[in-house]
Amino acid sequence: MKRNALFPYILIMVFGVGLIVALSLIGLYSGNEEAEGEKDSDSALSEATPEEIYSQAGCISCHGENYEGVSGPELKNVDKRLSAEEVKNVLVNGSGPMPGNLVPEEKLDEMVEWVLSLE
Ligand code: HEC
Repeated sequence: MKRNALFPYILIMVFGVGLIVALSLIGLYSGNEEAEGEKDSDSALSEATPEEIYSQAGCISCHGENYEGVSGPELKNVDKRLSAEEVKNVLVNGSGPMPGNLVPEEKLDEMVEWVLSLE
């Protein structure tokens, strides 16, 4: 009978669809894992000292190993030019070519204080 002849193909199709669904679920799952990995590195930064953030968030490439300035201005004695509010504003919103939001929010105040203490 024709119907019986088709049966193995239908089985194969069902199996194939099942396999596709299973593979996408595995893909989704490992995608989630990656996202969690990113979160981990974020929280590593939120436990870092201001010096560590300075090198790990990339400040160092624009402001220099000794805060002497590279493409960005020197950060020594920045307390003579800017208030804490102004430094915080630069760190949050960026300024000109400088990107904002490099410092985790919970570290902002500590970072501002540290930047103002550089000499
Ligand atoms: C892509 C390069 C770049 C990176 C990365 C960068 N900056 Fe900047 N930064 C600049 C530039 C350029 C300016 C000057 C902006 C302007 O004149 O408007 C600046 C300005 C500043 C100022 C104000 C200084 C002043 O004299 O006006 C502070 C404070 C500062 N950056 C701190 C940081 C910190 C802390 C980080 C890391 C979290 C950082 N920057 C990352 C380029 C950068």
